[in-house]
Amino acid sequence: MSKLKIAIQKSGRLSEKSLNLLKESGINISNGTSKLRAEAKNFPIEVLFLRDDDIPQYVEQQVADIGILGKNEVLEKGKNVTIIEELGFAACRLSLAIPKGESYSGLKYFNNKSVATSYPNILSQFFANNNITAELEEIGGSVEIAPSIGLANAVCDIVSTGSTLITNGLKEVETVLKSQAVLIANKELSKEKRDILDKLLFRIKAVIRSSENKYIVLNAPNEAIDKISGILPGMKSPTVVPLAKQGWSSMHSVVKEDEFWDVIDQLRTLGAEGILVIPIEKMVL
Ligand code: PRP
Ligand code: ZN
Repeated sequence: MSKLKIAIQKSGRLSEKSLNLLKESGINISNGTSKLRAEAKNFPIEVLFLRDDDIPQYVEQQVADIGILGKNEVLEKGKNVTIIEELGFAACRLSLAIPKGESYSGLKYFNNKSVATSYPNILSQFFANNNITAELEEIGGSVEIAPSIGLANAVCDIVSTGSTLITNGLKEVETVLKSQAVLIANKELSKEKRDILDKLLFRIKAVIRSSENKYIVLNAPNEAIDKISGILPGMKSPTVVPLAKQGWSSMHSVVKEDEFWDVIDQLRTLGAEGILVIPIEKMVL
């Protein structure tokens, strides 16, 4: 039986989270990242640990069938691959940054300046769209050091927490692109591999959903049940169970992580008490 080959980053911002996503999808990989490839015992998949920059090319050439990497790398490399799913982790942005002492007046600042970057394709497109004429210095890594060693006036690089910029005396002035981890695939997978990918995707989606939602349990006066059901629609509708105490019920539902605090306030206004919010392990629709 054929196996689906997945490429993930060997070491870097995405490696641990990529492995974790596979693990939470029930895919157990025998060894750590010590080797360059590993097989799963309980799923027809083989994991290849590669440099993230190389993953688009490997997926295009079907050295790997699918891969997990930053959308920024996918767009920069421009290889013929499909983005299948945004994975909701490793959020970052590709930004322009300048020495912190400089005053910034807007994009025209970059006219006739030199900018060090590992993203020449995305950046030259961005400057062209905005009618800016700048000189790009393409470098492979440690981009943030370029201004202080006199290699360029500014940089365009990935910012996540922003600490690398601060350490290098730079300030972020423009966002060129927002990015996060994505799953990419070769465009001509066999039927057999496509089936494995569908199974994997089903699991991955359940994991992503579970991290975006919480299980919520609360006690409510019976007259508030309708209104609370309106704010907590859940997956179909909330579960309502009568409490031993007359006139009260326990309600169970699901709430989106990012709506959680707003919803809690509304629930309390409606008379809800004893609100419990519990992480969800997996969520299958
Ligand atoms: C980016 C960038 C910085 C760092 C910024 O590297 O080149 O080194 O992340 O993160 P911070 O804002 O949290 O300090 P990336 O992880 O994309 O790795 P790579 O370019 O070496 O592949
Ligand atoms: Zn990289």
